[in-house]
Amino acid sequence: MTNQSDTPRFEFGKNWSRFVKRRFSPERAAAAKKHLLEFMKRDSLEGLDFLDVGCGSGLHSLAAYGSGAGRLHSFDYDPNSVAATTALREKAGRPQNWVVEQGDALDADYIAKLGKWNFVYSWGVLHHTGSMWQAIRNVQGAVADGGLFYLALYSADADFQPSKEFWIEVKKEYNRVSPTTRRLMALWYVWRFDLLQDIRNVPKFIRKLIDYKFQRGMSVFVDVHDWIGGWPMEYAGDQETVDLLEGEYGFELVNVSTGHACSEFLFKRTGVLGKKTNVKEMVAQISGKTSNAPD
Ligand SMILES: C[S@@+](CC[C@H](N)C(=O)[O-])C[C@H]1O[C@@H](n2cnc3c(N)ncnc32)[C@H](O)[C@@H]1O
Repeated sequence: MTNQSDTPRFEFGKNWSRFVKRRFSPERAAAAKKHLLEFMKRDSLEGLDFLDVGCGSGLHSLAAYGSGAGRLHSFDYDPNSVAATTALREKAGRPQNWVVEQGDALDADYIAKLGKWNFVYSWGVLHHTGSMWQAIRNVQGAVADGGLFYLALYSADADFQPSKEFWIEVKKEYNRVSPTTRRLMALWYVWRFDLLQDIRNVPKFIRKLIDYKFQRGMSVFVDVHDWIGGWPMEYAGDQETVDLLEGEYGFELVNVSTGHACSEFLFKRTGVLGKKTNVKEMVAQISGKTSNAPD
């Protein structure tokens, strides 16, 4: 693993607070809800409680609330993420069944005190803790028997261009430089990786700005800072993740999405140890089904 401690942490929460203040809209909340329910293959979260590990902006907790989740508990390491999520809870009318607080996925005692949940959600978080496999071990412990675990992690199998190591260096650099230089780095990213250093790609980029919010409700510029700044970070092998959760903790993989920076996994705790789902085969099966689906 790359040395995670020689560079300051990225201030995720400041980025999320800006997102909530400047970019939040009911449209984005609807997109987040759609993404969540589609991956779960459900029409609602009725009958499920929701533990949001590393809630960030709080948009996905809000989506779970709007999808009918019973009890909600959102926590994040960064106090500014807690503030952003609290602001979204306020917008939802301060529901009594939704708790927002500061907490650390690496604190095993804290996680144990939260008890068992029939739905644990951790999207794009545990690879940013500085000790990803320990964080996964801690958090899986909060999933009740028969419960669901929705996990998204930066994939070691994704095609990061120019290379995975390149992005580690970019992230370290980002967290060492001034806020002005960070903004310039974000522009550099857009110029090099979105516009491909060709001004004629501007219309395509504008299209991306519009379409992006309908995917998971996020914002391109907020996500650019999150991506180039998000440190500490690690990559997880898709099969490695599934082998750990199925082999050691009695989960079964029920849905998966790969091929993006973050692979998404939906696990169910069956209590049976040693299931050996082949991720590539499951992805091929799912995409086969998709291509056969009626228009
Ligand atoms: C990329 S954001 C993802 C936020 C949200 N889950 C989403 O999908 O939009 C990662 C979040 O993880 C939080 N985080 C990092 N380390 C953590 C830890 N040890 N415990 C809890 N949250 C943590 C960060 O503060 C940040 O808000």
